[in-house]
Amino acid sequence: MHGVGHHELRVLFVCLGNICRSPMAEGAFRAAAIRAGLECDMDSAGTASYHIGQPPDPRAIATARANGVEIGNLIARQITREDFYRFTHIIAMDEANLAGIRAQSPRDATACVALLMDALEDSRGKPVIDPYYGDEALFARVWSEIAAATEALAKRFALEGVGLRL
Ligand code: 4NP
Repeated sequence: MHGVGHHELRVLFVCLGNICRSPMAEGAFRAAAIRAGLECDMDSAGTASYHIGQPPDPRAIATARANGVEIGNLIARQITREDFYRFTHIIAMDEANLAGIRAQSPRDATACVALLMDALEDSRGKPVIDPYYGDEALFARVWSEIAAATEALAKRFALEGVGLRL
């Protein structure tokens, strides 16, 4: 999503660098939302500034492509103050992301903040492991976790709408 989206439901996926996990989550969720018939705007961002302006990690792009999802057009950015008002849901990959998000959150933020794995009843509270220093096999494993969670998230949004609390 570039600029402010127009759908009632607006979801931001957040990791540390916005080049591995959150772009994969954005892409997987886009595909899952289409399958679920869910009208939604989506984007991703990082809590850190290291990779601003960069495309996703080549391993993340390749893993997504192997699963039929194109994320090569995405550009990394850092979470902003406005994100806390223009998104209805901010979805973090791990506890460190949650801490980074909360540290940057305005006091009157309106977005609902949660962990991605909270979307799956039997994985609540679990992290999506950072694959940056791992190998291709770790990227594949992280993709399957992200794909399962974003599929569940899209279905739950389709059932419960913008009021969903994870
Ligand atoms: P991400 O992975 O948070 O899933 O995008 C990382 C990317 C870069 C770094 C750490 C994690 N880094 O330290 O540069």
